[in-house]
Amino acid sequence: MDDLREKYVGLIAQASDESTLEDLRVQAVGKKGEISLQMRSLGKMSAEERQVAGPKLNALKDEINSALAAKKTALADAALDERLRGEWLDVTLPARGRPAGTIHPISQVTEEVIAILADLGFAVAEGPQIESDWYNFDALNIPGHHPARAEMDTFYTHRAEGDERPPHVLRTHTSPVQIRHMEAQGAPCRIICPGRVYRADYDQTHTPMFNQVEGLAIDKDISMANLKWTLEEFFSVFFGTEVKTRFRASHFPFTEPSAEVDIQCRWENGSVKVGEGDDWLEVLGSGMVHPKVLQAGGIDPAEWQGFAFGMGIDRMAMLKYGIPDLRAFFDSDLRWLRHYGFASLQQPNLATGL
Ligand code: DAH
Repeated sequence: MDDLREKYVGLIAQASDESTLEDLRVQAVGKKGEISLQMRSLGKMSAEERQVAGPKLNALKDEINSALAAKKTALADAALDERLRGEWLDVTLPARGRPAGTIHPISQVTEEVIAILADLGFAVAEGPQIESDWYNFDALNIPGHHPARAEMDTFYTHRAEGDERPPHVLRTHTSPVQIRHMEAQGAPCRIICPGRVYRADYDQTHTPMFNQVEGLAIDKDISMANLKWTLEEFFSVFFGTEVKTRFRASHFPFTEPSAEVDIQCRWENGSVKVGEGDDWLEVLGSGMVHPKVLQAGGIDPAEWQGFAFGMGIDRMAMLKYGIPDLRAFFDSDLRWLRHYGFASLQQPNLATGL
């Protein structure tokens, strides 16, 4: 028994992992283990011998079992210590910085325009950027031979060989949304349509893609006076100062009468100040919706009338935030975006100022 004790206590102490320990357990106290076999031989002993050997064997078995259990715990503790050493983490280190993007000035200005006009009761309507020539031209009283069609530098899509239908276009203005909205919702209505438009043109003041916002108000007694008030109210809130407007008689196929609208400004060392001085800057086209356009939208011109306007958003952003070159809007230059971009939480809000 002493030999057995010495042997197993020694082996258990040396065991370096759980499976060795398990092997030892089977060898010593398993069903056919050395100690178990000894216990089985108790039956063949005389009563006196058994009285001495029995308790000793039981004590040995208990001792081996507790040595096994103790070693098992020690191995588990050691493994955990090892893991903790390896997976050590300094929770007091400052967190890694995450680069925050900025809101593009065009997105910001679009939101500003929406906030101001929504406050005047205009809802936002949208339409597709790839448009049929009917919505982009014909429905707006721009027939095939009309010079306005040629002037628009339109991007056309391709039809399959032999397909004689007129090709779709990249919309050249947001005006087709007027027609789509009239068809879908009828009159009365008060909407704005911000969005991208496309023309094949590229220089310091023109990019092949740019942004417009269209306005449309239809009711029984809408007049040019409502248009003028709405625009002056809009510009004054947008620029944060009272802005006078000048209406110049003009011509658009989709309005009659038509007016180009200038805002009051002053030039100073090559930069422009809106809302002061006695220069004028052209910013939009507008007028009373042409009866043919109302008709194309399914609205009876004998019963309804309205005003419409179309304005360049990019231009507005340049004027308000002193951005000199239109093309920079679309260059994706990170330095420019960080400089002119807005923080994402800086949401345009009429109550807190724009
Ligand atoms: N669609 C015109 C353009 O892109 C702008 C315009 C002028 C829109 C007069 C209108 C309008 O709604 O009434 O140049």
